[in-house]
Amino acid sequence: MKQALLSIQGLQASYGRAQVLFDVSFDVQAGEVVTLLGRNGMGRSTTVKCLFGMLPVQAGTVSVGGERVNGMPSHRIARRGLALVPEGRQIFTSLTVEENLVATAHVPRGGHETPLWDLGRVYAFFPRLKERRGNLGSQLSGGEQQMLAIGRALMTNPRLLVLDEATEGLAPLIRAEIWRTLGELKREGLAQIVIDKNVGKLMDLADRHVVIEKGRVVWDGDSEALCQRPEIVHQYLGV
Ligand SMILES: Nc1ncnc2c1ncn2[C@@H]1O[C@H](COP(=O)(O)OP(=O)(O)O)[C@@H](O)[C@H]1O
Ligand SMILES: [Mg+2]
Repeated sequence: MKQALLSIQGLQASYGRAQVLFDVSFDVQAGEVVTLLGRNGMGRSTTVKCLFGMLPVQAGTVSVGGERVNGMPSHRIARRGLALVPEGRQIFTSLTVEENLVATAHVPRGGHETPLWDLGRVYAFFPRLKERRGNLGSQLSGGEQQMLAIGRALMTNPRLLVLDEATEGLAPLIRAEIWRTLGELKREGLAQIVIDKNVGKLMDLADRHVVIEKGRVVWDGDSEALCQRPEIVHQYLGV
């Protein structure tokens, strides 16, 4: 069987004494786009925090390319090819656009199938960032900050990009641009985990969906299967 790019098995996690994740298990294959669906507070961002070593894994395993990464510090997990576009963007507001992009940039060793991400490629992908290259993060609009957060993640040349509510709080035209961007990255073969409220867009973009309810995976299937189960969408997403 093909080795999954990411495998999460029986993940449990808590904040203090409050357990939030009870049983989260799913895989992501190379090049695959997978969503984490669920209402607010169900544990999607907490799953992401465990994946990136930002919250301890209490039980279960997180493996990247078959190697167990739980317990590793965040920067070592990033070196395994995982990049995060975090909730709330969290760009460095006192650094310029260009400084943000190079701050965590990384070129992995070994053979590369797709062209590497460098400043030139990120600027070609997001011309607006090139225009704003000398501006501070704090001077950017919400949409520009989001593009910067994506560009910064791409500069680590990831194998898996994780986006937590990347279209949140953005104007419709900017949202559309972000969705277009994610579609292009998918066509390039970049695996993604996408968390977003727009289920319709996720159905178009993603290969597979993982529904989380109160810290447990309650359903898992492809877009076609989800389309045929409107009651799942209604019951677990409230739409
Ligand atoms: N830093 C925190 N401290 C304590 N509880 C938290 C913290 N972050 C999230 N929670 C709680 O954990 C649960 C899951 O939250 P979260 O993973 O952020 O949900 P989602 O991303 O699916 O909206 C919620 O009940 C939330 O209130
Ligand atoms: Mg969240």
